[in-house]
Amino acid sequence: MWKLIACGLWVAFAALLTAAPAAAEEGRDKFLQQRCNLCHGIATDGVEKLGSSPAVADDPFGEEDASNGPPDLSLVGDRHQSEWIVAFLRKEVDLDGRKHPMGFTGTEAELDSIVAYLSELGKTPDESSPGSD
Ligand code: HEC
Repeated sequence: MWKLIACGLWVAFAALLTAAPAAAEEGRDKFLQQRCNLCHGIATDGVEKLGSSPAVADDPFGEEDASNGPPDLSLVGDRHQSEWIVAFLRKEVDLDGRKHPMGFTGTEAELDSIVAYLSELGKTPDESSPGSD
């Protein structure tokens, strides 16, 4: 009897552990593992760009000027849909006529979790806040 209850509790606990916030955390880890930070910093989440390409110095959020080099991804979730990011990283679509310079070499699951993480970056939590007019 106790065994059954303990087992049920464990399952509930495991379900809690795999809930949403963990997914974003994992995406951040994969982002670092895949060395995306060689080219991209994420200023709002403490990710430092490791590479030496200049570009972002006077344009920390890389707003319009991706042609200068890899943009900071702090606002990327506000700029692109997650479906677009997936296609872009697979080099299926381009941005202003250019494909992403690096083909994605990880697994589908890794790509999914990175994109889940990125697509939350820079989103305004409450677009339609009441009483704003
Ligand atoms: C070799 C350098 C380099 C690496 C490594 C790299 N990127 Fe990029 N990335 C770029 C450049 C350059 C651009 C801008 C593309 C353009 O405008 O031509 C870009 C653009 C992007 C964009 C679109 C940004 C925007 O605001 O429009 C996303 C999303 C992105 N990269 C994600 C990633 C992810 C995820 C990884 C790791 C799997 C990664 N990048 C690794 C150089 C890199």
